[in-house]
Amino acid sequence: MTRHIESTRKSSGIIAAAAVAALVIPAAPASAQDVTFTRDVAPILFENCVECHRAGSFAPMSLLEFEEARRYAQMIRYRVANRQMPPWHVDTTVGIPDFANDVSLTDAEIQTIVRWAEAGAPRGDDADLPPAPMLREGGAWQAETIIGRPPDLVIQSTPYSVAANAQDQWWNPAVTWEALGEERWMMAYEFKPRYPDGLLVVHHGHATLSFPRDENRGAIGGVGLAHYGVGKSYEVFPDGVGMLVAGDQGVVDWNIHYSALSVDYDVSNDVVDIGLWFYPVGETPEMATEGEVLFRVDRHNGHDRPMARGNDILIPPHGYQVLQGVHVLEEHTLVSSFRPHMHTRGKEMSVEAIYPDGHREVIGKVADYKHIWQLGYEFEEDAKPLLPKGTVLLFTSVFDNTAENPLNPDPNQWVVFGRRGPDEMSHMWVNITYLSDEQYEEIRRSRESVPVAEAIR
Ligand code: HEC
Repeated sequence: MTRHIESTRKSSGIIAAAAVAALVIPAAPASAQDVTFTRDVAPILFENCVECHRAGSFAPMSLLEFEEARRYAQMIRYRVANRQMPPWHVDTTVGIPDFANDVSLTDAEIQTIVRWAEAGAPRGDDADLPPAPMLREGGAWQAETIIGRPPDLVIQSTPYSVAANAQDQWWNPAVTWEALGEERWMMAYEFKPRYPDGLLVVHHGHATLSFPRDENRGAIGGVGLAHYGVGKSYEVFPDGVGMLVAGDQGVVDWNIHYSALSVDYDVSNDVVDIGLWFYPVGETPEMATEGEVLFRVDRHNGHDRPMARGNDILIPPHGYQVLQGVHVLEEHTLVSSFRPHMHTRGKEMSVEAIYPDGHREVIGKVADYKHIWQLGYEFEEDAKPLLPKGTVLLFTSVFDNTAENPLNPDPNQWVVFGRRGPDEMSHMWVNITYLSDEQYEEIRRSRESVPVAEAIR
């Protein structure tokens, strides 16, 4: 299966990488001189880096121009060779390897950059330079490029002024949600910090819609309208999948976490926009998704989602802690993505499935967690774990409070649960669609009748 070839390629270390590179470019001369910026490196940077590394974006330098790329060549080599850039922290040696949003470089691309940097970052012939990539205008809706039209509805948080160089700040306004008049099915959302300053100060956030009349109506609960973390800002549900929004008037509760350590000026009156896209009126998608569901492994007030045996966080100075929590799925479930959320001592986080027959399997694991990034790992359609009713989701988090952890603000401290960056959390956001028996069987059959557990190996 191609999947296995793919995973071998991605999981190989640098030694294997050299071998693969040699295989892929057999004619490449031994002399590194031949690798140039204009011909070999610029296409890789244009394709994989400049969306973030350009003037006005939130990443440090622009990689559109040769001079700047050359100045950073050694740092680029280091980050790329260690797979720290582009940001993609999933452990490719375990779990399901097929991600729809995989931005990691191939081993051959990494080798090209490494050889270029080692050769002194030569420029090459200007005639070789590919045309500058078409980049989205700063502040444009990202999901619009996929869906092909601007959002059907835009809602906005109320203004908040973020103080420069300050510690974490939170902003939790409640904003009225005008009645839609009838039920609608969401097909996508985007959480868009203001360009350019908002991008520098919004670390993560959520907007949840609730209806005051819930108590009388029972079934229509809150809707997680949109979620954001650096590296994840929008979500387009697959064809035929939607999230139901009732037609009533309601309240949007915003939860915005600002982190202003990297700006030395005040950002006044910052607001966040959320764009929502709906299926046409009268069109009911086949499957209703819950969207990203929060599983709290730290158990702090964790009664919202049953999480048996989730422990409290208490990490000793210069020590580690491992936390585990389990959740039993009471319906057949299709998982489409996962996104860990921890803070600076967060090192690893994984989700495993324990099937009703006892068979246990890693679904996904981030082994190199970095607090600055809140990446969501989205499975390819056919690789989405299909879990029968009764499957147990097992979450494991590892915290590293030693001096070896480069992000550790102070290894001498005891660390407990808290919302500030130097405190800890252990949350897993899992994108969940519950399935009827028929839907479950249909997907199962479409996967060539392989047993369920086998289907995702
Ligand atoms: C999704 C946005 C994004 C993409 C794509 C991306 N970067 Fe970055 N990069 C960042 C951000 C933000 C930082 C600063 C935070 C950090 O170090 O993680 C950074 C940091 C770096 C640094 C360290 C700079 C310093 O001054 O410490 C290097 C080098 C780098 N990136 C190279 C690359 C290269 C090369 C690529 C493409 C192969 C790439 N990045 C792709 C956002 C991105």
